[in-house]
Amino acid sequence: MDKLNVAKHVAIILDGNGRWAKKRLKPRTYGHKVGAENVIDICLYAKEKGVECLTLYAFSTENWKRPKEEVSYLMNLLISFIKTKFDILMKEDCKLNILGDTDALPDKVREVCLKACEDSKDNKSLLLNVALNYGGRAELVHAFKNMLRDGIKEDEVDEELISSYLYSKGQSDPDLLIRPGGELRISNFLIYQMAYTEFYFTDTLWPDFTREDFDKALEAYNNRNRRFGGLE
Ligand code: IPE
Ligand code: IPE
Ligand code: MG
Repeated sequence: MDKLNVAKHVAIILDGNGRWAKKRLKPRTYGHKVGAENVIDICLYAKEKGVECLTLYAFSTENWKRPKEEVSYLMNLLISFIKTKFDILMKEDCKLNILGDTDALPDKVREVCLKACEDSKDNKSLLLNVALNYGGRAELVHAFKNMLRDGIKEDEVDEELISSYLYSKGQSDPDLLIRPGGELRISNFLIYQMAYTEFYFTDTLWPDFTREDFDKALEAYNNRNRRFGGLE
């Protein structure tokens, strides 16, 4: 594969953990555990392939609707993911960044996440965004409120300015979105940023998603013809 055509920014909706566990007659939380273990391998592989930014949807603003036991399992899993994988991320020169409203997270989760972001802020080889308590609509509400708070005038508002008020400020838009788990929707993910993103859906459940699956998605992306509304 020509490295030049590798998607620079790949976003992944980490979906299908619950069904993966159910198929094995295990609790949904077991699927989350195995799914989390898969994250680091795909991160390292993405970096190896030349991806510069990887954005993972880990917990949405809508996921608070789940039973509180599952929510608290996911929050603790996040803490243990950062605690156990942070050294690898540092060694691999990955910069961790959170997209979403961290204020509404449990204190411990917020502290661990923000510290990891701070400690890795000078790393350059891969930007790893974790979308946590993230919703595309909530992100726009947050952006518009801050624009009003800053006294932005009507004629100052343009697409670039709106981008600069998003959690993803300063970043390129995703080139490729991968959604494992078989659902054909974006579930409130990066709704502003994905205006021209290429979509790749697969029935493979996230815990089963391998480096080969990632290659297939990159390959599909390579064969897309991105016109951005223009002509070839
Ligand atoms: C993980 O997959 C996504 C998270 C919210 C962590 P799910 O928990 O949505 O798994 P399915 O879709 O029920 O199989
Ligand atoms: C999207 O998956 C959110 C994350 C993966 C974090 P969901 O499982 O919550 O999405 P829906 O409910 O199928 O739309
Ligand atoms: Mg799901």
